[in-house]
Amino acid sequence: MRGKSVLLIIGGGIAAYKSLDLIRRLAERGVKTRAILTRAGAEFVTPLSVAALTGEKVYSDLFSLTDESEMGHIELSRSADLVVVAPATADLMGKLAGGLASDLASTTLLATDKRILMAPAMNVRMWQSPSVRRSAETLARDGVLFVGPNEGEMACGEFGPGRMAEPLEIVAAVEQAFKVRGGPLDGFKALVTAGPTQEPLDPVRFIANRSSGKQGYAIADALAAAGADTVLVSGPVDIAAPSHVRLVKVTTARDMLAACEAELPADIAVMSAAVADWRPDIAADSKIKKDADHRIPALRLVENPDILATLGHHKKRPRLLVGFAAETDDVLAHAVAKQKRKNADWIVANDVSANGSGESVMGGERNQVHLITATAQESWPDMKKAEVARRLVQHITQHFRETSS
Ligand code: PMT
Repeated sequence: MRGKSVLLIIGGGIAAYKSLDLIRRLAERGVKTRAILTRAGAEFVTPLSVAALTGEKVYSDLFSLTDESEMGHIELSRSADLVVVAPATADLMGKLAGGLASDLASTTLLATDKRILMAPAMNVRMWQSPSVRRSAETLARDGVLFVGPNEGEMACGEFGPGRMAEPLEIVAAVEQAFKVRGGPLDGFKALVTAGPTQEPLDPVRFIANRSSGKQGYAIADALAAAGADTVLVSGPVDIAAPSHVRLVKVTTARDMLAACEAELPADIAVMSAAVADWRPDIAADSKIKKDADHRIPALRLVENPDILATLGHHKKRPRLLVGFAAETDDVLAHAVAKQKRKNADWIVANDVSANGSGESVMGGERNQVHLITATAQESWPDMKKAEVARRLVQHITQHFRETSS
């Protein structure tokens, strides 16, 4: 959920203090929060503490001329990927269920085009009252998501359901809400590697390659869009992680292997990273200096682990393991040899020599690939990397449809 944003509506209740921790927990996971603090909410937490934790202006007033000129309430309602109401009071639930828009929070809830997640918190009798039951049922029918309330002792001394879910439970519900539901790969876990690895020589120098990560990021995006729970293990690149994808950043081949093994078991693994085959045998602790005699240091290399081959022979081997082959000559023959040697189910082979216009697949926008499966070889036309990704994911979806029927 890194890179996502949440609009947090803090209602009036003693549980409002937990929403401060929620902001911190979301920030730890790379989620940006903007907050609306209701008038009642401001009786329990101060706008200053919310602003300090979110690092953003806090919104409270529907009729503020300054706020409206900076960001109108409609824009505010659309500005995040998800709207979270915590604590969700009987008042806020009732207003949304009844279609009322009498303040900034209720207007925003009514105007938003994003999913809404509510974490109710109220006295047990209020929660069990027929009118709050009606509101909760209406909201659930309208597609509002709920987390909690939990059962326990309440601030008012009574016992029962009504305690707001704990911040980490709300974070888990936020994570769930970000997932694409109902796609053909819903319920599948996918692991994708992308980008180059950097192998340090000393604190300022490294060996790497020209991979931009574009092909791998597009594949992760397409898998997530098909509903797979997707983790992207990426070497250092300059592009943002696609939405719905969990990004794990690594530097070296050995880090990448460790990160991939930590993600097993997985149903699908697509290894599109350009992993350095070798690394300097020693990474010096301080910068290697020129000496007075201008002697050139000898660079000794040692072999890196092969991530694809390790996963191919792993006891938790992914159900469908797809490798890439970057070749400059005899593309198909070399790719088939890699498929066998690394025990991959499929190989996507691409010619990485520069094309007629001087553009290389590595770093470029387009790719022309051959898909080699256990039984067939297909050559696809030259296309944008996002299109290669979509087509590959269609084949993956088809494969699981056929093998599960
Ligand atoms: O990142 P882009 O700019 O979008 O470019 C895309 C790409 C050209 C990098 C991509 O399409 C591609 O071809 N990726 C594989 C690059 C590569 O390292 O190919 P290879 O033939 O050397 O390796 C074969 C397979 O083994 C690959 O799946 C690779 O990830 C894997 N490998 C290689 C070496 C190693 N030590 N461990 C590995 O897992």
